[in-house]
Amino acid sequence: MAYAEDFSDWVSGRAQRVERLLDQWLPGSDILPMRLHDAMRYAVLGGGKRVRAALVYAAGCACAGATAPAASGIETALDRAAAAVELVHAYSLVHDDLPCMDDDTLRRGRPTLHVQYDEATALLAGDALQPLAFDWLAQMPVPPAQVVRAIRLLAQAAGSQGMAGGQAIDLESVGKVLTQAELQRMHTLKTGALLAASVELGGMAASATPAERAALDAYGQAMGLAFQVVDDVLDVTGDTAQLGKTAGKDAADNKPTYVALLGLDAARALAGELHEKALASLEPLGESGRWLAGVADFIVLRNN
Ligand code: IPE
Ligand code: IPE
Ligand code: MG
Ligand code: MG
Ligand code: MG
Repeated sequence: MAYAEDFSDWVSGRAQRVERLLDQWLPGSDILPMRLHDAMRYAVLGGGKRVRAALVYAAGCACAGATAPAASGIETALDRAAAAVELVHAYSLVHDDLPCMDDDTLRRGRPTLHVQYDEATALLAGDALQPLAFDWLAQMPVPPAQVVRAIRLLAQAAGSQGMAGGQAIDLESVGKVLTQAELQRMHTLKTGALLAASVELGGMAASATPAERAALDAYGQAMGLAFQVVDDVLDVTGDTAQLGKTAGKDAADNKPTYVALLGLDAARALAGELHEKALASLEPLGESGRWLAGVADFIVLRNN
């Protein structure tokens, strides 16, 4: 039975699976250059909620139809995509934490990579993780035209009109009051783009139909933005131990966030609206959208 498992078992199973694959596929710390490989493994392994990987798997399950992904070979494609998006995400955190960006010392409950190693190693670890993600995507066992589409999708989501562009806007907006439209654009790019791409990659690996793709797109847009709205809220309401990163950092750094712009209650209400919108967009998928609905609930209800 496809849905005998409940969501928490399913999602922790997926997180363990991607953790094992990341561990297996990342170059070992005993391979030259050892310090760089050790730093890459530090950045990726042993922490993180694995939300982006969960989105890949959940979208894949939503579109695999009656075929069980494990039996169809779709799962291997999903594994590559899930691991690849986690690499891009890990690289983005390493660079986001650098002194020239957010200047953070704590990440996933441990010293940030440039604190644990040094700044040059943090730059290089990020530099090396990003292309490795594309190497892994290139190994998806799907027809070559589909591989090319997957690579372009991730490249666009991570680039200057996606995540890196959003990070540039974030940095140049410090101390400024943005309009809600400008803030939405910044969040959609810096965080939403990679989450939406994770959903799309899952659909792509499972050969989603146009109707399924439309549902996934609407879900990915809404949850991508919701994720960063909740991150902004948690920066204010969470404590450092619970978050595994320094709480209150956005206000201290004068960052434009949804809490700064709208206040805590309105930011929470917006996350709730986006959550509802995402769930509504799953309706055409019926029961097969169940894991995506679970990930949406997790994103909005999480406390770290
Ligand atoms: C943190 O992402 C950075 C943002 C995009 C807000 P996550 O909250 O998914 O970080 P990990 O992977 O669980 O540490
Ligand atoms: C990070 O946003 C977005 C990316 C890393 C692309 P934040 O700067 O808000 O993330 P945290 O709060 O440091 O995790
Ligand atoms: Mg940042
Ligand atoms: Mg940051
Ligand atoms: Mg944040």
